[in-house]
Amino acid sequence: MTERPLAAPLAAVILAAGKGTRMKSDLHKVMHAIAGRPMLEHLLATVGALAPARTVVVVGCGREQVEPLVEGHGGVVVVQEPQLGTAHAVLQAKGALADFDGDVLILYGDTPFVTAATMRRMRERLAAADAPAIAVVASRPDDAKRYGRILAEADGTILKMVEYEDATDEERGLDLCNSGMMAVRSAELWPLLERVGTDNAAGEHYLPDIVMLAAADGRRSAVVEVPADEVEGINSRAELAAVEAAWQARMREKMMLELGVTLIAPETVWFSHDTCIGRDTVVEPNVVFGPGVRIGEGARIRAFSHVEGAAIGPGAEIGPFARLRPGTTIGERARVGNFVEVKKARLGAGVKANHLAYLGDAEIGADANIGAGTITCNYDGFFKYETKIGAGAFIGSNSALVAPVTIGAGALVGAGSVITRDVAAGAVALARGEQVEKPGRATDFRRRMQSKKAEED
Ligand code: UD1
Ligand code: MG
Repeated sequence: MTERPLAAPLAAVILAAGKGTRMKSDLHKVMHAIAGRPMLEHLLATVGALAPARTVVVVGCGREQVEPLVEGHGGVVVVQEPQLGTAHAVLQAKGALADFDGDVLILYGDTPFVTAATMRRMRERLAAADAPAIAVVASRPDDAKRYGRILAEADGTILKMVEYEDATDEERGLDLCNSGMMAVRSAELWPLLERVGTDNAAGEHYLPDIVMLAAADGRRSAVVEVPADEVEGINSRAELAAVEAAWQARMREKMMLELGVTLIAPETVWFSHDTCIGRDTVVEPNVVFGPGVRIGEGARIRAFSHVEGAAIGPGAEIGPFARLRPGTTIGERARVGNFVEVKKARLGAGVKANHLAYLGDAEIGADANIGAGTITCNYDGFFKYETKIGAGAFIGSNSALVAPVTIGAGALVGAGSVITRDVAAGAVALARGEQVEKPGRATDFRRRMQSKKAEED
């Protein structure tokens, strides 16, 4: 089949006006997260890869929850009220696309993992020499549930689409299911949608009806078949968790097979959509990566660490039991050990903070040594302040550094100090009660008390 180039402009219409009742949530269904980002954002990111001229998201209630995200991706939101069915939903985008002439991809907000490759196939099918009116994405799931069924010829030409509720037993036996996604040229789409009626079991305007209306005009429509898991919709929190699990499984495979990351117990490591890890880094069991993590090569993330919004340099070692929070940068070969929390702090190359510390709003120079129990006191209940620690400085155990404060390069802070003023480079700072010693006093005390006790007995 000769194909003409995909010269037509592209618009995406994403349906998200359904009530999402089964989520039992005040949060809009498409705003529930998978791999740390809303399912709608996964879809918007994929759509973005095709550089559409327009993106329109159709919502019912919850517009205010969805709009900032959609606008952030250069799209617009239109409202469908009341919700009279999928054909009626698509028709709500007509105004926003009034001056648009090109291919329209109809997608579902709750089916976020349809791939860019599938979207391209939808367009290619529409552009093929036989010029179908509509390209319909379909699959053959193991369990066809209550999906709409498709009766098609062997070459993929669609003879009929029927909703489960309207189908005969024989039609319910068909294994080819409608995913709901379609590609249609705008010039044909709007007139077809306006002809869709409500003579069906649900009394709704069914989108698949445009296939039969086109057929009545002598126009054929064609199936684009994809694997069932790609077009699985999310309707409940249980399905959300299942899709999350499938996403994590794919990411673990990618980390190991494509990126050369060692995962000792892959099923216990949780990634975000944007986790980026360098070759030969080892991730030990039970590590969780929140959004915004970049890790260099040859690092080690030890067991039970939680890492979010952090850049970790090559050869660094984090954990076990470390927590890195947003705004953290860890230099090459630095070490952040057990029960250390780092927030919005830059640790230079070779810094060691091996045990029990809180380092927040801080800048720590190369090779500084942060003793056990060091706390940057960064908050007075109203404002946050910064702590600066110079290269090669040594902070003794159990020190409180009351910000704003600067410890000079190579300076040494005695253990147990409460530092409230800047310390010059190369100086020793001690800020703790002075040690007092009474020779023999303990022995005297013990002797007195023992004889007192003996008198009482
Ligand atoms: C729809 C299809 C069905 C297909 C299935 C795949 C129709 C009539 N049926 O059924 O053939 O197998 O999807 O999942 O199209 N929506 C609106 N406005 C509305 C109604 C729905 O925006 O008035 C949106 C929903 O938010 C959702 C999508 O359209 O994103 C599908 O709606 P849903 O009610 O889930 O349709 P199904 O009955 O599952
Ligand atoms: Mg559905």
